[in-house]
This record gives sequence, structure tokens and C-alpha cells, in this order.
Amino acid sequence: MKVKEILEKAYHERNLVKDEIKLLLMAEGEDRDLLLETADRVRKERVGDEVFLRGLIEFSSYCKNDCFYCGLRRSNQNAQRYRMQEDEIVEVAKRAYQMGYHTVVLQSGEDMYYTKDMLCSIIKKIKMVADVAITLSIGERSYDEYKAFKDAGADRFLMRFETSNKKLYRKYHPGMSFEKRIDCLKWIKSLGFELGTGFLIGLPEQTLDDLVQDIILVKELDADMIGIGPFIPHPQTPLKDAKEGSVDLTLKSIAILRLLIPDSNIPATTALGTLDPYGRQKGLKSGANIVMPNVNSLEYKLKYELYPGKICINEDATKCRGCIESIIVSLGRKVGQGKGQSRHYKKDS
Ligand code: 5AD
Ligand code: FES
Repeated sequence: MKVKEILEKAYHERNLVKDEIKLLLMAEGEDRDLLLETADRVRKERVGDEVFLRGLIEFSSYCKNDCFYCGLRRSNQNAQRYRMQEDEIVEVAKRAYQMGYHTVVLQSGEDMYYTKDMLCSIIKKIKMVADVAITLSIGERSYDEYKAFKDAGADRFLMRFETSNKKLYRKYHPGMSFEKRIDCLKWIKSLGFELGTGFLIGLPEQTLDDLVQDIILVKELDADMIGIGPFIPHPQTPLKDAKEGSVDLTLKSIAILRLLIPDSNIPATTALGTLDPYGRQKGLKSGANIVMPNVNSLEYKLKYELYPGKICINEDATKCRGCIESIIVSLGRKVGQGKGQSRHYKKDS
């Protein structure tokens, strides 16, 4: 089958078999351009020209896990650790709202210092001072905890499965289990959160077939939001000497998922912008419709080092916002108004 025919099929059926996805991932030259252009067209048809901004608040750099790729891993003795206190988190959320953000993303390492009650209290307080959607990105918790967060007012939850290859998952996430991860994602979905998930591109030993399976798993989990980013080696991790992930494969994966889940929200990730100075622009032109600028102060931004070279960490939140707005406008798009709930989610509910 030719790429053109596969794209027609994807457009009409929103489903592809493994070999078709693989051919799209391998597309080059005109075929590759056609894939990205088709995704851009579908993005415009289905979710429009608005690019929604999410204010990212990285509130703790402590993590109990030891993921091989991540700078926050507990074995990284050189990592600079901080925890923001409840009132400070609420204050930053309020400031983000005053700057025009309608969604805040509360992200941290897996840090059990923050109990169920503390997180519920933070969620409730933010809802009292700001009319924002709240997205949590805090990793694995119990069903009861997720339920409590939802009841407290959290709207969305982001947690990538990182890789669907169980052998690689086990290797790069010591002490963790792929099955547990998937259970958590299913609980989150069943509780009525808008579900965001996704994977890393270019982990060592990951094959093209693995990426095909990753794409299929995102579709199976019926994600409302899809986060895909290239792996970037961090010098203080076991994967320090590995090769970085491919920007091109990331763009193609974004494009394919735009075709398979056309109403989803897909960010042009910071990692993409880190590996390529125009990475976020390229993402936004390949199916993405979301950007997640960091709204924390410089002090914290520098310490939350998932990977080195992160863009924007020397910019304060106001400057960052202006910069992103000009990127959006330069692409002929506009900054989204309102909370920008996933249309895919709206359809389900
Ligand atoms: N390179 C790219 N992305 C990374 N993440 C963690 N470490 C790295 C890295 N070295 C991503 C993971 C996680 C998200 C918050 O950051 O996919 O889910
Ligand atoms: Fe932050 Fe450009 S987006 S400075």
C-alpha cells in the first residue's frame, strides 16, 4: 500500500494496522511531508486554529523512583531537590490565572510527602482563587487517592506509559511494573478524568515496531490528551551515553496520532523544542494544538531537570508567555480562549 492510500484510510476509518503505521513512520521525502500536512489539515478541521496554553507548575523535584532516563531519579545525588509548600503552589496557580492561563498542570516527581489530604486541599484552594482546569501529573497513586483528587475538583490527569515494550519498561523502571501503570491509567479514565498519556521516542534498544505498538496502545487507552517527546540523555543517569531521540520520528508519531484520535489535545512538547530550535513550531504544524509553558520562578525551573538543555529556563513566566504567543501568531494560529477541554473527552461524556 502506498502512503497516500494509508492516509486516506486513516482519515476515513481512524484506524490502521501495524504495518500501515510502520510504513508511515518510515515515510520519507514527499510521503513524509504528506503525512505531516494531512495531520495539520485534520487538526485544523477537528480542533481548529486555537493553540491552548497550559501553565506548568513543577511543585516538587523529589522522586521515589529511579527511571533510567530521568534527571530526577532518586539515585541522582547531584539533583537539586525542592518542595513548594501548599500556599506557594496556590499562589503560583493564581498568578498563572492572572496571566491568562485557564489550565494549570501540577507536576512533580513521585513524592509521597504530599499526602492525599494535602493534594486535595491544594486542588480545592486553587479552585477557590482561580477559574482554571486542574491537570495532575504526579505519577502512580492508589485508586482511592485518584478518586479523592477527582472529588476535590481535579479535571485531568497526565501520565505517560513511557514505553509499551514490557522488557524495556522493566529495564528502565526498576521496581516498577508496566501492568500497574496500565491499571492506574484505566482507573484514571474510569473516574472521569480527561486522560493524557504517551511515550518517549528513542530510548536505547527501542525499535520501530515498539513505536508502532506505543501508538496502538495510546489508541487503545482512548487518550484524550497525548504527550510524546524525544528522549534526551541526562549526564547524571545510566543512559548518559545513549543517543538522543529523533525529532522526525516524534513529528511523525504526533501526526499519526492526530489521524487516529483526531479530536484529542496534543502538545508540542518542550523536549521537542529542546532538541530543535523550531521543534515546537514543527510540532504545531504536524498535528499538535497545545503548548505547556512553565509558570514557576527561575529558581525552581533550574532545579527541575528531567533532561539537560531545557529551553526557557532562564526566562521568567511573563516573557515566556509573550514568546510563545508570538510563535503561535507567526504560524497564523491564535491563542485558545477558555479551558480548552479535549473534544475527544467531550464526545465520550
Ligand atoms: N528525556 C526526555 N523526556 C524525559 N522525561 C523524563 N526524563 C526525560 C528525558 N531524559 C519525560 C517522561 C515523563 C515526562 C514528565 O518527562 O516521559 O513522563
Ligand atoms: Fe519561553 Fe520562548 S517560550 S522564552
